[in-house]
Amino acid sequence: MAIIDGKAVSKAVRERVAKETAELKEKGIVPGLAVIIVGEDPASQVYVRNKEKACEEVGFYSEKFALPESTTQEELNALVKALNARKDINGILCQLPLPKHLDDKEVINLIDPAKDVDAFHPVNVGTIMIGDYNFLPCTPAGVMELIHSTGVDVCGKKAVVIGRSNIVGKPMAMLLLHENATVEITHSRTQNLADITKEADILVAAIGKAKFVTADMLKDGAVVIDVGMNRDENGKLCGDVDFEAVKDKCSFITPVPGGVGPMTISMLMQNTLTAAKIQNGING
Ligand code: GUN
Repeated sequence: MAIIDGKAVSKAVRERVAKETAELKEKGIVPGLAVIIVGEDPASQVYVRNKEKACEEVGFYSEKFALPESTTQEELNALVKALNARKDINGILCQLPLPKHLDDKEVINLIDPAKDVDAFHPVNVGTIMIGDYNFLPCTPAGVMELIHSTGVDVCGKKAVVIGRSNIVGKPMAMLLLHENATVEITHSRTQNLADITKEADILVAAIGKAKFVTADMLKDGAVVIDVGMNRDENGKLCGDVDFEAVKDKCSFITPVPGGVGPMTISMLMQNTLTAAKIQNGING
């Protein structure tokens, strides 16, 4: 069994982005990311701080818009429209979840698809389905980088995704399909789940249940990618996979923390760089 080092793969992506950013700067282009956060959700504040830090690390311009909980839909919409029009902002990200009185769908639909570095806009979701995309949603894109880092060829393999969210499960299945895996999406209503997961050469767990995947659900030598971020019975951070119980059965496995987590922001940096290049007429 080998542990996939998400921190190392993530660092390599950021170094690549930083190098390209330095080259763009010589042409007078500085990629710019606007991050909107509404309210005081502590987890969101940590994510946003980490996104800003990453921007600084790779050499981007970043601007944070921390709006009060009392912000109205009209105010939020007006900000997105203003950012759509700004030449120095190439990427716009509205941190989710939004406070209950605000409609995240309305905000996502307003973001210019060319600046939608989360790839949540229906136009970008559609391009992913077709396989003709500029941006990939950050978490599934990060998972693909991790799978590539193992050297395992996805082509022809049986891949099983547990979870069907718009942000992870569904696009994850598409990306695996684009690389010619035979893909099955499973979820909370799937019957005889273990019979399906036991056939997986590649298993991606994104169901949001602590230590849900156990050794008896795995094929020997499977590649296991754990997208989960949960707390166990002792309050300790853990994934959707029971790491200790399954690790000797896998060929490769991602830990939690230190697996998929670090990749997500690196892929956001990659998307922002791509957005800046395209908006400046440079091929992404
Ligand atoms: N909240 C949790 N994950 C994400 C993400 O990837 N993008 C945004 N905008 N909000 C999130």
